Amino acid sequence: MFNKFGLWKKPANSSTLRDKIEEIKKSPIPEHVAIIMDGNGRWAKKRALPRIAGHHEGMKVVRKTTMLANNLGIKALTLYAFSTENWKRPKNEVEYIMKLPEEFLGTFLPELIENNVQVKMMGYKDQLPSHTLYAIERAVEETKNNTGLVLNFALNYGSRSEILDAVKQIINDSKNGILMETELNEQVFSSYLMSSNFQDPDLLIRTSGEIRLSNFMLWQLAYSEFWFTEVLWPDFNEEYFLEAIEVYQKRQRRFGGI
Ligand code: FPP
Repeated sequence: MFNKFGLWKKPANSSTLRDKIEEIKKSPIPEHVAIIMDGNGRWAKKRALPRIAGHHEGMKVVRKTTMLANNLGIKALTLYAFSTENWKRPKNEVEYIMKLPEEFLGTFLPELIENNVQVKMMGYKDQLPSHTLYAIERAVEETKNNTGLVLNFALNYGSRSEILDAVKQIINDSKNGILMETELNEQVFSSYLMSSNFQDPDLLIRTSGEIRLSNFMLWQLAYSEFWFTEVLWPDFNEEYFLEAIEVYQKRQRRFGGI
């Protein structure tokens, strides 16, 4: 009865949360979690706020999610912050999203450093405004020697373009004698992708009830476990994240075997 109305999803107090984290840590934790952070616009609309208010709230959730991922011992967290298709959005919304890395890193970079988090970015850098790129590159540089969680922003990222670019580079390398056809296998192909330094995600989370990949890591997600939730990204909290991990821990990954 309570579940039906979502009333049990009140944030747990910190000691309950801590106990749950300790319990979850007893079972294998996904090493790479990827998240499609969706529903910011609907969250704002429900409150009669401009869409950008949803993105701002979503940014705060990025911080909480990052801290919990680090605490759980997750090695990499890839967040889909802006796709190559998102340029089609109204100019003011695009400009606002492009300011968020500066605001986020301007506020939280010291905390990320203190927590040994390493910042990375995956996406087409050329089209990014210089202020956005500067904020990201500064954070990448300042955190490059950290050894904790890798927080990987997928920013101006699109999987089909990424795959096409990999194919073009492979053709080029083959023409130039750098790569022989016989050497090309899945592992080598992966090394041509923007995610070359990451293992494939173990778990994909998408919020807001949409059940699709939206051009996100199409090659890399081939054997990942998927967890979808109706919860809008700004409402996503530690409890939902832990629920996703618990569900993951109960899944049997067979990678095509039996
Ligand atoms: C999708 O929701 C969300 C985005 C395209 C932007 C995501 C950005 C953030 C969560 C903030 C990122 C923070 C940093 C630090 C880069 P939507 O707008 O499509 O929502 P809707 O489907 O409800 O309209």
